Amino acid sequence: MEKKLIILALESSCDETSAAVLKNGREVLSNIVSSQIDLHKKFGGVVPEVASRKHVENISYVIDEALDKANVSFKDIDLIGVTYGPGLVGALLVGLSTAKALAYSLDKPLVGVNHIEGHIYANFIEHKNLEPPFICLIVSGGHTHLVYMKDYGVYEVLGKTRDDAAGEAFDKVARAIGLGYPGGPIIDKLSKKGNKNAINFPRTYLENDSLDFSFSGLKSAVLNYLNNSKMKGISIIKEDVAASFQQAVIDVLVDKTILAAKRCGVDTIVIAGGVAANSGLRQLLKERTEKNNFKLMFPPISLCTDNAAMIGCAAYYDYINGYSADMYLNAIPNLKIGQKYERI
Ligand code: KG4
Ligand code: ZN
Repeated sequence: MEKKLIILALESSCDETSAAVLKNGREVLSNIVSSQIDLHKKFGGVVPEVASRKHVENISYVIDEALDKANVSFKDIDLIGVTYGPGLVGALLVGLSTAKALAYSLDKPLVGVNHIEGHIYANFIEHKNLEPPFICLIVSGGHTHLVYMKDYGVYEVLGKTRDDAAGEAFDKVARAIGLGYPGGPIIDKLSKKGNKNAINFPRTYLENDSLDFSFSGLKSAVLNYLNNSKMKGISIIKEDVAASFQQAVIDVLVDKTILAAKRCGVDTIVIAGGVAANSGLRQLLKERTEKNNFKLMFPPISLCTDNAAMIGCAAYYDYINGYSADMYLNAIPNLKIGQKYERI
């Protein structure tokens, strides 16, 4: 019989303190997420020092709750998984130091997980039969990547943003329209009441065939539109600005994702990261994948934004592929997809 592995996973790379307990990678026994969003709202974005301090306050409680909810204790844990990059260095260090202390005191293996890779693994939790190869569009507050996942732990980055991440563009545009933080979910909601064809904002495709992204030109176009309207004394329709901006982002995301899947000859497309929660993106991808005969999978909203369950799932597959770290594992704020530490 297959050995059962119980994993305790920690995530603290940005403004969510999270702990999860999983059985054999895909079965989530608990996934506790303590969000700091309310704390950072008044600053209009995440303040790194404030985030680190809050992680320190929260982490023990979050771990206790995750163990309680999963009905396990420390002695049942076989493996500790933790995000060690990319992210805010002070925030990462809180989860990493806690994970190291636990691994050392319990004498259990420690697996360092790449946060962006973790987002992809959220799909394995939701779709029990999903296996690589597939194309994954990872769109979050800090990252926008098109990745060809060939096998567990084997990634080819086909394209990424050259400036702002998709979520960052949502957040900055929302702030400019005066909508609050985080902007993505608010723009998503507002867009449903707006006309997506009201304003023709630019779609940036870069060079022919490029799978890279650029959203800073679009962001500037929205800011110019707002300034011009203000100078001319024309009042803007927020719903229309939101819907037109959102459509400009998702048109490019979807076109490039379909192109990537065709180019790599895969039949499955998955999406991941906070912006994968966007209803317009999901709808357009659904239409375009059906038209082109691709299978489309995405995680539930709760697994799109930052959480430790996805980190635990990635830790499981990294571990069975031979990865475990020693006590020298350090936080790497700009960790790249596919970059690994030395196996011990
Ligand atoms: O993956 P995530 O929780 O954190 C990072 O790793 O960055 O993503 C957060 C980002 C924020 O920029 C937020 O505005 C965006 O995801 N987001 C959305 C939606 N929900 C969250 N963007 C567009 N539509 C949404 N429904
Ligand atoms: Zn994330």
